[in-house]
Amino acid sequence: MIKRNHGGTLNKNVIDFSSPTNPLGPPEFSDKIIKNCIKRKVYKYYPSYKKLTKALSDYWGISEEYIVPVNGSDEALTLIPLALKLKKLIIIEPNFGDFNLMSKNLKIKLIRPLIKLENEEPYINIDEIVKIANKNNSPVLFSRPNNPTGYCINEKDLDYLSSSIKNLVIADEAFVEISSCNKIKPTENLIIIRSQTKTFSTPGLRLGEVISLNKSILNKIESSLQAWPIDSITNCFYTEMLNEREFIMKYLTISNEIISKEREFIMNNLENLIKFKSKTSFILIKHEKMPNPIFKRELIKRGVFIRDASTFFGLNKSYSRISIKTHDENIILLNAIKGVLNEKIY
Ligand SMILES: Cc1ncc(COP(=O)(O)O)c(C=O)c1O
Repeated sequence: MIKRNHGGTLNKNVIDFSSPTNPLGPPEFSDKIIKNCIKRKVYKYYPSYKKLTKALSDYWGISEEYIVPVNGSDEALTLIPLALKLKKLIIIEPNFGDFNLMSKNLKIKLIRPLIKLENEEPYINIDEIVKIANKNNSPVLFSRPNNPTGYCINEKDLDYLSSSIKNLVIADEAFVEISSCNKIKPTENLIIIRSQTKTFSTPGLRLGEVISLNKSILNKIESSLQAWPIDSITNCFYTEMLNEREFIMKYLTISNEIISKEREFIMNNLENLIKFKSKTSFILIKHEKMPNPIFKRELIKRGVFIRDASTFFGLNKSYSRISIKTHDENIILLNAIKGVLNEKIY
């Protein structure tokens, strides 16, 4: 199989700080919903996405005709270069990079301006991006908040970008619900990709969606999908879940309170390394004193598993990404990092 670089570990002897997700874990009644879907034997039928699209439309407050449900936002990211027959694509890096494989297959030229990491506050030079986009006349894709930096392109820069370029802007907002970034609104040249897997900490139940006011683009993406991209159980699960509006509002409020409180706690207590300001549930760190793989290996010995971020374009072995978890787990993480960085290892 092709090697893909993602977070996550099956090692039960370590705490997993490598998968970026909601620290609260899946909503309590997830099992009950799934059991109910099984009881209804929804798997006996090919899925129809009418109710799901209606639930997504109510949830986002966007008309159904502008939403295409997909098998996790990753499916959208993978298919867009194919569906839109791109020749070039501008990706603001470092970034979650699964679409790279499809782009390589299709020989799409990737142009990769970088988020500046000169100090602890990441930023982009929006004029530089506009210039590159206009010179190359190609779409600009980025994640918002960005994985792995946690940086969120602000709405003013985004407006400027989408009004200054002749091509599409593709905003991957997979993490937006568990972040302090404001959600943006789709327009004719702004395609938004969202996901439920990060929000509800349910990466094994694959749902994401493409949202745009540009029907012709949506049509191209939808025609590149298979007829049933989301299985019946997942379809049933999220349709039920998304309709639990009151519960979700509380769940997200608590999730975001934990994320910002714990992020501040971690940021205040990380020492002897560079920590980048993040708007979401993970933090990028730079530990030049002890690069990877030693840093990661030594943390595993202390029961902590982090994401070596050197596989992200533009980063190197001095970078890792840590996810925010519960307070007690975060204390274990901080102690482990402190221990490792204060120790001389030969
Ligand atoms: C920025 C970003 N977008 C999209 C995805 C894909 O998520 P999913 O396919 O589970 O929605 C990920 C996964 O980590 C990600 O980091």
